[in-house]
Amino acid sequence: MTSDRSDPTQGKSIAVIGGGSIGVAFAIVFARARHRVRLNEPDAARRSSVAGILHAQLGDLEAYDLLDEPASSIVGRITLVASLSEAVAEAAYVQECAPERLDLKRTLFAELDRLAPRQAALASASSAITASTFAADLPGRGRMLVVHPGNPPFLLPVAEVVPAPFTSEAVIASTRALLTGAGLTPVLVRKEVEGFVFNRLQGALLREAYCLVRENVVSVEDVDRIVRDGLGLRWSVIGPFETVDLNTLGGIASHAEIMGPAYQRMGMERGQNDPWTPELIERVAAQRRALLPLDRWAERVAWRDRRLMSLVRHRKAELEV
Ligand SMILES: NC(=O)c1ccc[n+]([C@@H]2O[C@H](COP(=O)([O-])OP(=O)(O)OC[C@H]3O[C@@H](n4cnc5c(N)ncnc54)[C@H](O)[C@@H]3O)[C@@H](O)[C@H]2O)c1
Repeated sequence: MTSDRSDPTQGKSIAVIGGGSIGVAFAIVFARARHRVRLNEPDAARRSSVAGILHAQLGDLEAYDLLDEPASSIVGRITLVASLSEAVAEAAYVQECAPERLDLKRTLFAELDRLAPRQAALASASSAITASTFAADLPGRGRMLVVHPGNPPFLLPVAEVVPAPFTSEAVIASTRALLTGAGLTPVLVRKEVEGFVFNRLQGALLREAYCLVRENVVSVEDVDRIVRDGLGLRWSVIGPFETVDLNTLGGIASHAEIMGPAYQRMGMERGQNDPWTPELIERVAAQRRALLPLDRWAERVAWRDRRLMSLVRHRKAELEV
């Protein structure tokens, strides 16, 4: 047994199933974290293009100084294989990244359950299909869950960890630890809601954007401009709750009092009646105050501004290139 930094899975490997855009990106994430990776792609034509894609993406990461070793060392830890059994034979963790089809995920997880070592957690990158739908009838369902990444995961660190009610606590814990060790930011989604959280938030914004374009309020390009040069720029430093918390003297409770009725009217216009009740506001405000006591509010506003200054300087420099 070795505690060699170059082999964090201690002789075992990570299996990535499906060599499409997400599978290749996950292979990079795990190999970059010094795991040995076996990447399974059944389609011969796709297999022949994967090596070129890996080299190109890792080459770019290296050129942007985002790797702490040569790209070639990382590529060297990734083995491309045609067969599923070969991919999972010595796997400590399996990340499935096959197409988003329920029949396919069902068949694949039945096979993975049969082929992968019993200790291995089996995770799907599924964007919408829950583990309850593809794994409920399988004997090894306790080791199955969803790990839904942002695209590409080697640049967007967040990964939604979505267990089914039958997923074991030990598997949830080891999966979160593995993802954290690979430089990702796992977020536990407590219920298997459709679209999880990432796509529900994206969907809320997109639904309104479509309505505004339909009503000729704004052009498609200008919606993107408002997000890119406004909301999104700030969201790359702080999320939507922290944004309104820092935008209003007195924090998020004051924001809800001042702006809540207007937001409710806008929701009603779209047939959505989800008022921010006093109990809900209290719950949200309590979580924010635990994260940021009001006596540190001004200090955090100054921090946000400095982070934005750094980003704005970076954008300016990029434009000048
Ligand atoms: N693309 C995104 O933005 C994104 C983001 C997060 C999650 N996801 C999810 O990740 C998964 C993969 O998405 P993608 O965009 O990489 O899809 P993709 O279509 O680009 O790639 C899927 C790959 O799986 C291969 N494949 C087909 N059948 C297979 C099988 N039986 N076993 C193994 N591999 C098989 C295909 O040949 C293909 O190369 C989907 O569930 C998707 O919903 C996608």
